[in-house]
Amino acid sequence: MMFWNALFLKAPGYTADASHSDSWNRGRYLVDGAAHCSTCHTPRGFLMQEKEGDAFTGAQVGPWFAPNITANAVSGIGQWSQQDLVTYLKTGRLAGKAQAAGSMAEAITHSFQHLSDADLAAIAEYMVSVTDKDAPASGASRFEQE
Ligand code: HEC
Repeated sequence: MMFWNALFLKAPGYTADASHSDSWNRGRYLVDGAAHCSTCHTPRGFLMQEKEGDAFTGAQVGPWFAPNITANAVSGIGQWSQQDLVTYLKTGRLAGKAQAAGSMAEAITHSFQHLSDADLAAIAEYMVSVTDKDAPASGASRFEQE
């Protein structure tokens, strides 16, 4: 039940960003904290630290690859709407776009599907906005390497 405690207790260190809505702040709190999206989706450096500049650009998780979930239209989920993301996190599938497998399917089965609609909407609202900002830099460097 540690997951649920972390989820529903107020985060002591969280400072709300007043330039965004309450639900955006709730989304950021959930994504960075209890939902651990970056644990799997952010690549790690030499000392296994998450590379903040490349947040959400994709990483290997054991046998599975957690893909780019920035707003990058090619390698990320820039073609997804907020509602698409909510549907995927709740059901594990999105007709014609995605079907969750591996550790993502486990995360959905054991936790994300149990989130309230308001929390899922908050997560989607945050993901869509933040990745707009992060995507150009990380997207560009990825293309240069290829
Ligand atoms: C335990 C590791 C793990 C966690 C935690 C996790 N993911 Fe994933 N995620 C994955 C893996 C692995 C895949 C690829 C699954 C597949 O191949 O079907 C994936 C796939 C996805 C996809 C589909 C992308 C596509 O292009 O098909 C989205 C969207 C996504 N995750 C969003 C999230 C969000 C948002 C969170 C936090 C709420 C999150 N994930 C947390 C491991 C994780």
